[in-house]
Formats: sequence, structure tokens, C-alpha cells
Amino acid sequence: ANERESMYLVSEFARNHFSEMLWDTELGKAIGLSYFRERGFTDETIKKFGLGYCLDQWDGFTTAALHKGYQLNYLDKTGLTIVKEDSQNPNNPRTFDRFKGRVMFPIHSMSGRVLGFGGRILKIDKKAAKYLNSPESDIYHKSKVLYGIFFAKQAIAKEDNCYLVEGYTDVIQFYQRGIENVVSSSGTALTPEQIRLINRLTKNITVLFDGDAAGLRASVRGIDLILEQGMNVKVCTFPEGEDPDSFAKNNELEEVQKYLADNAKDFIQFKANLLAEEAANDPIKRAETVRDIVNSIAKIPDPIKREIYIQECAHIMNVSEGVLFSTLAQINMKDA
Ligand code: CTP
Ligand code: MN
Ligand code: MN
Ligand code: MN
Ligand code: MN
Repeated sequence: ANERESMYLVSEFARNHFSEMLWDTELGKAIGLSYFRERGFTDETIKKFGLGYCLDQWDGFTTAALHKGYQLNYLDKTGLTIVKEDSQNPNNPRTFDRFKGRVMFPIHSMSGRVLGFGGRILKIDKKAAKYLNSPESDIYHKSKVLYGIFFAKQAIAKEDNCYLVEGYTDVIQFYQRGIENVVSSSGTALTPEQIRLINRLTKNITVLFDGDAAGLRASVRGIDLILEQGMNVKVCTFPEGEDPDSFAKNNELEEVQKYLADNAKDFIQFKANLLAEEAANDPIKRAETVRDIVNSIAKIPDPIKREIYIQECAHIMNVSEGVLFSTLAQINMKDA
């Protein structure tokens, strides 16, 4: 427990250090702060989310932390510092800042403690990942964290709905635009633990997909996990080349709200339509598709909802309700 407390403290120090570099150094202002401002984030938003900048130096952060008395052990364990043994000099390993030259997004727990970071490179470069994230550690378990949950939790309960987006900047731009009930799984596949965090606050999730189609099919699979927890799921896609960040940046609140109201579709209906379109007139594909959609329906704990979805999907997929009910019975027998 003491070890973890030390890791929390070092992460807290890092957040403060990166934000100091952003606001109080010439390079930080010229590079990091102007980057965030160009993305349309206000100073208030940048402060609220604790955004920062890690100077483009080998070990500027690590040196500052060691000077303040933080132990290298915890800098290493949180992944903020990369430690390389030096065979010439075994008592003096070489240290590097993991996030060198990146703008920083602190990742908070439900109660607001800093668990880790996402760091974005400034210029897209094929040699380096666009985002670099803290590694798994005793305080940062990717699968149990949702980016933005600390800021969103009250609004999620109040609105009785949660928007789930793909990335850090989608969360921030939505929040700034006035839609505060928004969180992100930050590039990882959605997990049952993440869904449980939302499930404690609301039974309603609206999943927002980037308009890049990549990964839509894969993401659609993950959504069955939400149904399993008895939640109501809607999905909404954005126009080609847009994501929630760019859309909220370029449109007023009323326009964003109208877009969501007009385009959010019930997940089962959305999936049935998507699959029906893809299978078109290929009988074998259509059979697979029917099984696939019934698999999703089978995840829904409420039998009344299951029945209603069976009726709707029979219509969408142009098969009889009887076929869908018997497929459902087969799936239930296999699971029993
Ligand atoms: N991601 C990641 N590592 C990458 C790319 C993406 O961890 N190399 C995660 C990040 O959390 C990112 C999310 O996946 O926010 C969504 O990816 P993408 O849509 O590509 O990024 P955006 O959030 O739209 O980033 P930006 O607008 O800054 O380009
Ligand atoms: Mn643990
Ligand atoms: Mn994307
Ligand atoms: Mn995106
Ligand atoms: Mn984006």
C-alpha cells in the first residue's frame, strides 16, 4: 500500500511538473500551449483537464523529480522514467523521460487521483506512435480505467446517459462544448470492468464512432459486453473524416445535440442493418448474419426486450420470427 502511495505521489508531481512546463516555460508555451489552443481548447479547459507538456530533453522531468527527492524506483514503476542499466557503470543506470517532447493528458481515477498519462506527439511521424501511454502498473490498470470519468460522473448520473468516445481529445472537446457526460476507453477494446464503472451511474450508453470505418466491425463485437450487463446501447457514427472532437469543434452545441438526436440508433437495429447490408443476397452470409445478431440478442438479460428485438430483427433481416426464436433457443441451450 505504501508502494502504491509513493507511485500516486510521483504521478501527482509529474502532472504538476508537466503543467508547469506548459504554462511557465518559453518552449512549453510556444510548442505545447499553442498546440492545445490551435486544437480549440480554452485555457480554462486546458487547466481543468490538467494538460501539460514534457520538454524535448532526454531527462528533464526525471532530473527535476530526483532533485525533489522522488525515488528512481517509483519513477521506473510508474513508467514515467525509462531506466537502462549501464554495464560500464552498474551503480548509475541511464535514465530517459518516457514522454519526451509530447503534450500530456493525465488519466484520473473515479476519485480524481492521477493514475497515468497519455502523451501525444506534436507532428505525426511514421517512426513514432501518435500516442504513447503509461504502461500497466500497480496503480494503472488500463482495463479498469475510463478517461474522463472523474469529470463526467455527475453529468452521467444527471443526464442518465453516458457517451463513450474513442479518444482523449473527443472527451475534452465534448466537455468544453457543454456535453459533460462523456468518457473514453482510449484506444483499448472495451472491458467488462470499464462498463461496470458506467453501469453504477446509468443504464444508458451511447457509443460514438469516428467516421473512419476502421475498426467499426471489431468495435461492434465489443458492444455485446454492454448488453450482457443489461444496459441499453445506442450507437452513432460521424461523417467520413470526422470524429467527435472535430465535429464538436466545428459545430455549436445545438447542432451537435441535433446531430446526436438524429443519428443515434438503437444498437441491435444498427447491427442488424449493418449485417443485412453486408450479406445482401448471399444466402450463406445471411445465415451467418442471422446467427450473429441472435447472439447479440441472447446477451440481453430481459426476456421482454429479447422478444421485441426478435420481432424487429426478423423484419430488418427479412426472415421469420420463428427462425430467430429457434436460433435463440439453440444458443441458450449451448450456453446452459
Ligand atoms: N491511441 C493510442 N495509440 C495510438 C493511437 C491511438 O493509444 N498510436 C488511442 C488514444 O487514446 C486516442 C484513441 O486511441 O485518443 C483514438 O485514436 P485516434 O482516433 O487515432 O486519435 P484521436 O483521439 O482522434 O487523436 P488526434 O485527434 O489527436 O489525432
Ligand atoms: Mn493491482
Ligand atoms: Mn479513430
Ligand atoms: Mn479520432
Ligand atoms: Mn481526432
